[in-house]
Amino acid sequence: MIKVSAPGKLMLFGEHAVVHGRPCIVTAIDARMRVFLKKRGDNKIITNVPDLNLKNYIISIEDLDKPYAKEIKFVLTAIKNFFEKYQIKSGLPPLPKFWCGGLEIETKSEFPMRFGLGSSSAVTVATIRGLSKIFGIKMKNKELFDLSYKTILDIQGVGSGFDLAAAIYGGTLYFVTGGKVIKKIEIRNIPVIVGYTGIKADTATLVKMVNRKLKENPEKINKIFDEIEKIVNQAKIEIENQNWKKVGELMNLNQDLLRKLGVSSKELENLIEASLNSGAYGAKLSGAGGGDCMIAIAQKENLNNVKRAIEKAGGQIIDLKTSAQGVILE
Ligand code: MEV
Repeated sequence: MIKVSAPGKLMLFGEHAVVHGRPCIVTAIDARMRVFLKKRGDNKIITNVPDLNLKNYIISIEDLDKPYAKEIKFVLTAIKNFFEKYQIKSGLPPLPKFWCGGLEIETKSEFPMRFGLGSSSAVTVATIRGLSKIFGIKMKNKELFDLSYKTILDIQGVGSGFDLAAAIYGGTLYFVTGGKVIKKIEIRNIPVIVGYTGIKADTATLVKMVNRKLKENPEKINKIFDEIEKIVNQAKIEIENQNWKKVGELMNLNQDLLRKLGVSSKELENLIEASLNSGAYGAKLSGAGGGDCMIAIAQKENLNNVKRAIEKAGGQIIDLKTSAQGVILE
């Protein structure tokens, strides 16, 4: 039995603009997705996802091309792409280069998948890393990134891949679309507060909405992206300097631009306003918007005040640590 784990993520700066060639800053969080893998003697893939009540979901290796249950599509698409890339086949002799009977896979998440904290990216990365161990294939981090990115694009059609980079490399990263730049930012723990709105957002729908706006009004939207890029570059320096007051101010500026993109929501605004009114240095949505989570930065002495204010405004505080370790075999 092989056991792999990969961290979830928290977007700090630059969402949406990063889909369009700009940088963002993402941090890996200390909540992990675990994947357990075992080879089987027959040609079946048996999957279990207890967190989503999926028990003993069985398909044959030959059926990897067919549609599967949505709870398991990232794992099975990852297997399909891995088998295709490394020409792993199941069948009768003469045996192909790699012989695969079947697989047994179980996934377990330390964080509820509805929070939008990167469960899909973490499970994709952990599955491919586990397969590379099972089949004795060495994969460099960038190869792992590229195959995971293909998997996400096959399923969602859109995305920058920032969440995969967090799952693979860990830490806090300066990241440019598709992994063109992946740079570690030297910082241990960022004093960030995370509030969940209670509303599940659909990333692909929001990304497509911004794409439409960009098509309709490229000059205006590109200008917003350019301004976000400047904020991200400044935020990288201020995070390295641990100047949290400045980081907070930059969050507020980033949030103004996200409002202009039309991706904020009433629920996010309520939590953001509550944090600012209780003395946070800054606050913004984190991720695609439309719901999911918001983040705030505050002085150490004020952290509990801000948390209480977010809860009073209807948010759920998610306690987590940033800059966690990337994917590992456990
Ligand atoms: C979603 O968490 C962040 C977006 O920038 C999409 C992406 O980068 O893939 C909106």
